[in-house]
Amino acid sequence: MTLTLLGIESSCDDTAAAILRGTGDAPVILSNVVRSQTDLHAAFGGVVPEIAARAHAEALDLMVERALTQAGVTLPEIDAIAVTAGPGLIGGVLSGVMAAKGLAMGLGKPLVGVNHLAGHALTPRLTDGVAFPYLLLLVSGGHCQFLRVDGPDAFIRLGGTIDDAPGEAFDKVARLLGLPQPGGPSVERAAQAGDATRFKLPRPLLDRPGCDLSFSGLKTAVLRARDDLAAERGGMTEQDRADLCASFQRAVADVLSEKSRRALGDADVTAFAVAGGVAANTELRARLEAVSDLPFVAPPLALCTDNAAMIAYAGMLAVEDGRTDDMTLIARPRWPLDSTAAPMIGSGKKGAKA
Ligand code: KG4
Ligand code: ZN
Repeated sequence: MTLTLLGIESSCDDTAAAILRGTGDAPVILSNVVRSQTDLHAAFGGVVPEIAARAHAEALDLMVERALTQAGVTLPEIDAIAVTAGPGLIGGVLSGVMAAKGLAMGLGKPLVGVNHLAGHALTPRLTDGVAFPYLLLLVSGGHCQFLRVDGPDAFIRLGGTIDDAPGEAFDKVARLLGLPQPGGPSVERAAQAGDATRFKLPRPLLDRPGCDLSFSGLKTAVLRARDDLAAERGGMTEQDRADLCASFQRAVADVLSEKSRRALGDADVTAFAVAGGVAANTELRARLEAVSDLPFVAPPLALCTDNAAMIAYAGMLAVEDGRTDDMTLIARPRWPLDSTAAPMIGSGKKGAKA
């Protein structure tokens, strides 16, 4: 049966709404709008939860209205409202859940609380119709994990970061080297003119079995290399900076591709997919694609980064399975997708890890 879903996302620093129509096997994104809060947080060097929550509360109505208008859909035509109910910054998640509850109650339509990570994990199906089970590597500013996606509500976490997320490491390295935020694109740009073999940076956890990852030591190694240059030569040249960026990027790509190879070795899957802002990195994409002969799926960037179309899609699959919520739905700062996996330590700059 064809469904029309409104999706709402507000778990970090993007306020997003989307309209999705169709079925779980044939979804069509009618609209997908995002308002980023990057400017609001720029001066603070990270997302400030209080500012984020307030900005979400202010922008949510507007984003929902814009999504409806762009889709040419009216509120009564919506069959269900899907909203990120966690994990994330609690104030932002609460803003979204309250907005969704108000709409669901006013319209008398079902409410679906979606796990933000499930939204990312199901995106390869939304964009490319990838068959279950597939392996997803989620790499963003707040997340880093390998998930085997067995079904719309069946996820196995094969490993993940024990400290920072890779996007966080890119952002910190950019800050250390005086490059603008967001750090990923600036480090990648600088790396183009650099020698990736010049600095011998660590490949954290490669010597250990399994597919857990760590990025905080790598960031510290970049700091040390920068300070050594300053001590030896009184500062860094453009070339030093480019070489350091290239060496850092190579280390991240080495670690992620080797751990992906291991994760794929353990998982009997049909495809390998990536999601998250760091998946925009050209060197990383090329390295990941070369890891195996399986089909490699990298959704368009707008659907790799935080968005509400993925939340609407996860919601659509939930409605098809008869999994809906009522007014008792709660906002959860932590919500592991795979309840059987051991909890991870650490918490990212962009909110709770899961
Ligand atoms: O998925 P995303 O938009 O937001 C969340 O973290 O939820 O990811 C943003 C992260 C930032 O840390 C940014 O520096 C990183 O993705 N990023 C990149 C690139 N573009 C964005 N990292 C490496 N290379 C890039 N080209
Ligand atoms: Zn996300």
